[in-house]
Formats: sequence, structure tokens, C-alpha cells
Amino acid sequence: MILVAQVSDTHFDLGARNTARVERVMNFLTGLRRRPDAILVTGDVTDSGKAEQYTDARAALRTDIPVYAVPGNHDDRANFRSVLLGLPASDEPLNQAHRVGDSTVVLLDSSVPGQAAGRLSDDTLDWLRATLDAAPDAPVLLGLHHPPAHLFSPVVDEISLLDPGALAEVVAGDDRIVGVITGHAHSPAATTFAGRPLLIGPSTASILGGEWELELPHRVMDYAPDPAIALHIIDEKRRLTTHFRTVPMGGRVAVQPSR
Ligand SMILES: [Fe+2]
Repeated sequence: MILVAQVSDTHFDLGARNTARVERVMNFLTGLRRRPDAILVTGDVTDSGKAEQYTDARAALRTDIPVYAVPGNHDDRANFRSVLLGLPASDEPLNQAHRVGDSTVVLLDSSVPGQAAGRLSDDTLDWLRATLDAAPDAPVLLGLHHPPAHLFSPVVDEISLLDPGALAEVVAGDDRIVGVITGHAHSPAATTFAGRPLLIGPSTASILGGEWELELPHRVMDYAPDPAIALHIIDEKRRLTTHFRTVPMGGRVAVQPSR
């Protein structure tokens, strides 16, 4: 089996708060008895795409566990590449495939420069099809920032993934794809997409309510809850299991001893 941690919507903004929350999460992950095989950051690494924000992110996310990150709508592709990843700056979509244990993790860049909503470009979809053609007969986990489904989130549903049909066709047609993970919603959530699990990782920075709790335009973001993450397991039967975990900023409190 492989264990993949998902950290999302970290929104590094040059303030101490969001950085401290990611540092706490990274301490939690690196201190686990069974450490993750990889850590995936599903977009909105920074709040406004500034180079200095990526400098902070790079420092806070540094670990000996592989960290793979993909841009969200708050990111800047050029700074993301050059400062966070140490690659030549470019505004092209940042799509990636990584081997994690016996599985393949494919990260798709759904960001559209200057827009809050997401879209997979024709080039990205072509890249995805070619990457899957070349991938081994092993489980595939797909990650992107924008959820390709309605989440009953009045804020995010207005700016989710546009035209998800082509992605749905690819997912439905490939048995190796065990599930799709996204960020963007700032709320841990689970649904389905093209017949597979669609899992939305929470933000480490804040919680965004659903239509049953938001009173637009007020009370949009809730900054009170502790940071949260998702832990994804792909087992020998190619089954995806996900746990959502809150990481207390105050450290561990009373644990009931087992009898
Ligand atoms: Fe976000």
C-alpha cells in the first residue's frame, strides 16, 4: 500500500499565521509512525502569487518526503516554477506525473491565469491522455486544484472546473484511475466524479461553509478551526481509502488510555 498526504490551499501570504499552520502540519506528517510516501499540495500554495510567498512556502514545505505541488487560482505559474520548484520560469500549464511506490500520481494544472474558475486546456488534456498511454498497469491517482463537480458551496461552485466533460471521459475510460483529489473548496468533502471517488482536501488556512451555513456576503471564511489535511491510502486491491485529519495547533490534548 501507499500512503499519500494531501495538504491544500496553504495560502502563504507573508503572515506568520498561515506559515505556522503549515509548519505544524508538516511536523505532524513527518512525525507519523508510518510516514507518507509523498505529500501532495493541491493548489493555492500562495495567497497572491508573489515570489516571497513561494520562498516562505519552499522553506515550510521542505522535508525528506517527496512533495509535489500543483498551482491553484491564487498562484502564479512563473513564480511557482522558479521559486517553489527551482525550474525555469514559464507561464505554461504545470502538469506532472510521479511514481509513488507502485502507483502513479498525475497532477493537472487547472489554473487559468487571471481567472478564479478553472479549466483544463486542450494541451493539458492531450498531455494527460499521452501520459496515461505510457503509464504502467498500476493504480493512478489524479490531482488538480478545481473540483469538477457541484459541491453545494455557494462560493466555490461559481468558480469550479469549467467544462469537466473531457476529464470525465478520460476518468471513466481508464480502470487504473482509483480516484480524483482536489483542493479549492476549503472544506473536506467526498462525492463521485465519472464513477470514481472525488475527494476534496481541506485547506490548512480556513474553512469555507456550504450553502446551509453561509450567509452571503458575510461570514464567508471561518479562520477559527485548526488546520486539516487528507490522508489517502491505495491498497493492494487498488482501493482508495481516505481519512481527513485535523491537526491541533495546540498539540495533543488528553488521550484516553485503552484498557
Ligand atoms: Fe484556496
